[in-house]
Amino acid sequence: MGLRVKELRKVFPHGDGDVALFGGLSFELASGGSLALTGPSGSGKTTLLRLLAALESPTAGEIWINDVRVDQLGGEAARDFRLRNIGFVYQEHRLLPQLTALENVAVPGVAAGEECTERSRRLLELVGLDGKANHFPEQLSGGERQRVAVARALVMCPALVLADEPTGQLDAGRATVLLELLRELNQEQHVTIVMATHSLRARGYMREQIELG
Ligand SMILES: Nc1ncnc2c1ncn2[C@@H]1O[C@H](COP(=O)(O)OP(=O)(O)OP(=O)(O)O)[C@@H](O)[C@H]1O
Ligand SMILES: [Mg+2]
Repeated sequence: MGLRVKELRKVFPHGDGDVALFGGLSFELASGGSLALTGPSGSGKTTLLRLLAALESPTAGEIWINDVRVDQLGGEAARDFRLRNIGFVYQEHRLLPQLTALENVAVPGVAAGEECTERSRRLLELVGLDGKANHFPEQLSGGERQRVAVARALVMCPALVLADEPTGQLDAGRATVLLELLRELNQEQHVTIVMATHSLRARGYMREQIELG
């Protein structure tokens, strides 16, 4: 899916001085492209990903994904659009504590009324966690949870993956496996990828870069 962002601004009002982000940011990313979002902590990487996913609304500007203006999608429509098109990897993973790793991966499928246990298993295998399918999040390490979150983001075969520091808690070997997986999705299945990252190496896996802040 192609992305088009026009004159984007987001202001978070604060009593002691507003936080104003992006300063009228415009960019395009062609369908099948890959983009690294970089910039210091607090520069707005997570906020931009949330805006792209219609998890939040901008103060000004337009966000288009293909021919859909996502900044104007409301609650139910936004949820449905996300479920069908976007795989989102949260910076703090956000797994459901009462579900096993396998059940967590399958959550978007359940929400969409689709059977995806087999695909969930395959994805857990791809991220190296087939041995931990029945573990609960609190029984997993930080990096393992993050990999479950990546598997969950991919379970609906999204055309657009938005990943917030997906390698932040991984050792070099695991990070490489994950980055190779994302690159393969991008190059072979033409999945469009936007990844926020502090890591120089992760940035190297994306073809384009925008530095915020
Ligand atoms: N819901 C909110 N309410 C008020 N301010 C917010 C909110 N969300 C983000 N901000 C502010 O917006 C700025 C950007 O935050 P954001 O989380 O997007 O940064 P980031 O680039 O992802 O940082 P990091 O590298 O630490 O993850 C921060 O200064 C933050 O305080
Ligand atoms: Mg962030």
